[in-house]
Amino acid sequence: MTRDDLLALDATDPLAHKRAAFALPDDAIYLDGNSLGPLTHVAQARLHEVVARQWGTDLIQSWNRHHWIDLPQLTGEKIAQLIGAAPGQTICCDSTSVNLFKLLAAALHLQPERRIVLTERDNFPADLYIAEGIARDNRQAVCEIRAVAAEEIADALSTEVAVLLLTHVNFKTAAMHDMQVLTRAAHEKGVLVVWDLAHSVGAMPLALDEWQVDFAVGCGYKYLNGGPGAPAFLYVAARHQAVIRQPLTGWMGHANPFAFAPDYEAASGVQQMLCGTPPILAMSALDAALEVFTDVDLLQVRAKSLALSRLFLALVAASPDLAALRPASPTEDAARGSHLAFAHAEAYGICQALIAAGVIVDFRAPDILRIGITPLTLRYVDIWDAVQILREIQRERRYQAPEYAHRARVT
Ligand SMILES: Cc1ncc(COP(=O)(O)O)c(C=O)c1O
Repeated sequence: MTRDDLLALDATDPLAHKRAAFALPDDAIYLDGNSLGPLTHVAQARLHEVVARQWGTDLIQSWNRHHWIDLPQLTGEKIAQLIGAAPGQTICCDSTSVNLFKLLAAALHLQPERRIVLTERDNFPADLYIAEGIARDNRQAVCEIRAVAAEEIADALSTEVAVLLLTHVNFKTAAMHDMQVLTRAAHEKGVLVVWDLAHSVGAMPLALDEWQVDFAVGCGYKYLNGGPGAPAFLYVAARHQAVIRQPLTGWMGHANPFAFAPDYEAASGVQQMLCGTPPILAMSALDAALEVFTDVDLLQVRAKSLALSRLFLALVAASPDLAALRPASPTEDAARGSHLAFAHAEAYGICQALIAAGVIVDFRAPDILRIGITPLTLRYVDIWDAVQILREIQRERRYQAPEYAHRARVT
């Protein structure tokens, strides 16, 4: 395989035109869109409009005139189309962590006779911390966390378990669960499921309704390109909406917020999951960025993600310079999300040396170099160029430079 072969692949790539929707720097290969999606032109224009005209001129009238008050629903419905959810079940709000808190508490409340929250030991730490917070702070100790290894999950499902709380794609290794199979196995034991889609939404087709998922959360700033700290979303299957109760009973989840009634009365539907005033600037950026997906076939996104990932893995495997990098993601396509992990004792230095050379990647402690694969922006030739730079860094041991001995706060 040559660089020219890859240029030819780019020339026939059905998603190639999407790159023009993004404001990418010319001098970088961005392999971190799985962590912070890049700026879209449409979000940039919308932010300008919202700041200058809506906030700047129309001021408070914008809540009605520009539908600010409806933005959580409107943005939520755009996300619904990416996760296989019929209307009325998805809403944009808060952070992934806060949404997990609300959903986990709501799910536990549905089956008070069961005590266990089953999760994976390698789950994203925030998910474990949120579950711990619910277990510890509740004086009646209504739940107990059981964290097991990925391969033990199916056997650990029992009639004592209230909720199965899992992240679909592992943040470090990209190991991907079979959401449909595990949801079905959980339901066979009467267990409700809460899925965290942070590393899968926008990177592959999902079918939450078809797979009978109960609850889900996901992140707005990764593959959805909503901007740093963009609001997250949550999904509540229609069949649970009439009976759930969530603990953050803020006024935006009230049936009639502007009645200012002293007592709380939950709104109907997924709206009851809202808490406070939506962050209009941040949500507008996400809402606009989602327009990039309107004509995108997620099957094509997934196919290109796998092709780019296989290419990266093959180029690394074929290079003796890179023998010390140990692939730490599943090799089987069906078991891998849309990033790659490589283990190396000096992964932090390698990550920094790559960034210095214009290949933007990230590091996850203790020893993982993470490569994000975002098919809407990446070209096949980018993968070739990135691997050539990685080879140079390894050959020259540039990762041992003294300036890489100290870790920045964000890695
Ligand atoms: C899988 C997963 N869950 C939850 C979170 C936390 O999201 P937030 O910081 O928006 O609460 C992240 C953040 O990266 C994540 O990767």
